Amino acid sequence: MAGFEQIVGLLKAAGETTRLRLLAVLAEGELSVKDITEIVGQSQPRVSRHLKLLADAGLVSRHAEGAWAYYRLAEGGEPGQLARWLADHIDAADPLLIADKRALQRVRLEQEAAAAAFFAGVAESWDRLRGLHVPEAAIEQQILDVVGDRKLSLVLDLGTGTGRMLELLADRYTRGLGIDSSREMLGVARAKLTAAGITHAQVRLGDISAMEPGGEPADLIIFHQVLHYFDDPGRIISPARRALSPHGRMLVVDFAPHRLEFLRDEQAHRRLGISSDQMSGWADACGLASSEIKQFPSDNGKEGLTVCLWQLQPASEEKSR
Ligand SMILES: C[S@@+](CC[C@H](N)C(=O)[O-])C[C@H]1O[C@@H](n2cnc3c(N)ncnc32)[C@H](O)[C@@H]1O
Repeated sequence: MAGFEQIVGLLKAAGETTRLRLLAVLAEGELSVKDITEIVGQSQPRVSRHLKLLADAGLVSRHAEGAWAYYRLAEGGEPGQLARWLADHIDAADPLLIADKRALQRVRLEQEAAAAAFFAGVAESWDRLRGLHVPEAAIEQQILDVVGDRKLSLVLDLGTGTGRMLELLADRYTRGLGIDSSREMLGVARAKLTAAGITHAQVRLGDISAMEPGGEPADLIIFHQVLHYFDDPGRIISPARRALSPHGRMLVVDFAPHRLEFLRDEQAHRRLGISSDQMSGWADACGLASSEIKQFPSDNGKEGLTVCLWQLQPASEEKSR
């Protein structure tokens, strides 16, 4: 419930054509100010002023990412409900809405092309690496089996890349959050999540080696093919542990120890795989107990890589099981 004053404030903030257009566009997903400016065809200071009014009223929420800012419709509460209701009730045949949706589509296509150009640059070695994996399907099925059917509250996918884990587990969580340090990867992830209609997951630019404690604790934290990019994976696991709920767990998917030295040069790997003993050591150092769930040996001859799935849980939980 909201008082008269709050409702009048909300109506004033939403009661203007450009701001209604912004609500309608943001109902399609999270967007940067740069994209929004292009879509509505107004100057950036003007658009920013409108967005600020909407954000001050609580109709949209803002997330700063370096020099960029992203906006999305507010979730829940009266302001969020009103924003969604207004966006849903604009006539789909309104010429302004049609033009804005076309412009949004154009902006997204341009972004996908830019991300594709980035991937084209790494495609040669990426394809070779993929050929060294066991089929992704077997690993993904195992992840689904381990996660089980229980609905999770928050899932954190650290080093989310193109957001594959958020997509795979979408029906198992209430809220998904992927963090990655590559804008290009996140561009693809955003486009993919939007295309799949996954609106309860977000991705954020961030450095997982500098995670700050605080915020909602996660039921599940995933590192999927990420830790071998760090000289000291323990330095990554430890701050993540502070983001884990007392009954939560981490899943780590990574390579077992291997000798493919070229991966350092071609794929920027720092560690040539991880052993279960190493994993136990890093886990132990931050109060987690590690267990190896399964190995997926390659069927790709001597060049093959074995992939391993580990589960890490608070040590006290492990003892009480
Ligand atoms: C091999 S990709 C794996 C992506 C995804 N987890 C998957 O399996 O499809 C590794 C990802 O880790 C990200 N990454 C590397 N260092 C990072 C850091 N310090 N903070 C956040 N992400 C990082 C890279 O940008 C890349 O997207």
